[in-house]
Amino acid sequence: MKIRILAGLLVLVLVTSCTGPSQGPIKSGYDELVDAAGNISLPDNFQRNWTFLGTWAIDSTEAQQNGVAGFHNVYTQPGVVDYFQDNDRFPDGAVLIKELLSTTTASMTTGTVSRAAGIDGWFVMVKDTEQRFSGNPLWGDGWGWALFNADQPTSTVTQDYKADCLGCHIPARDDDWVYLSGYPMLIDQGQPSE
Ligand code: HEC
Repeated sequence: MKIRILAGLLVLVLVTSCTGPSQGPIKSGYDELVDAAGNISLPDNFQRNWTFLGTWAIDSTEAQQNGVAGFHNVYTQPGVVDYFQDNDRFPDGAVLIKELLSTTTASMTTGTVSRAAGIDGWFVMVKDTEQRFSGNPLWGDGWGWALFNADQPTSTVTQDYKADCLGCHIPARDDDWVYLSGYPMLIDQGQPSE
């Protein structure tokens, strides 16, 4: 009996040390954010609880205004960065959210400074390695795809990812359709590249 308990403990210690201390289980997007038909929902409070991957700042020259015209802040679930660093790919159920922020620009003691003024919407991608929803036009090429406008956060305005999303992501096709260069923790293990 004692030997069995000891052997059990040994297995437990081995399993725990193999998975590493910082790597909690990733909460899959399929747990709560995707229903049986493939409809995608936004998670609550992801800005506070998820991992912040990086910001894109949109130049305002075209909009003929000062400063930054918009920020795109990108988040993923805790644990996805560890997984990506170890495997060079996103795990099934990984969710990427790009939050679109409008801006305002003012003169401050640091110079001319743009800051977030409001939320315009959210682009969401859910990694799918199992081709779960082949008949659903929001799913394909390894991901579920959806855009939510800020005034309607509970239902997506996306009708067909091929028409609404894919064309613009073609430059990132070799990186599983994701613009990895904006996320130093994924490609440079934490340091922005030169
Ligand atoms: C007008 C072109 C365009 C369209 C349309 C578009 N995207 Fe993107 N998307 C981009 C670019 C470029 C980036 C990275 C730079 C940025 O945000 O400006 C990006 C980034 C993202 C990101 C952050 C992860 C990454 O790839 O860097 C998500 C999530 C995303 N898009 C989802 C979607 C979804 C879902 C749709 C369709 C509903 C969509 N996008 C449509 C151009 C586009």
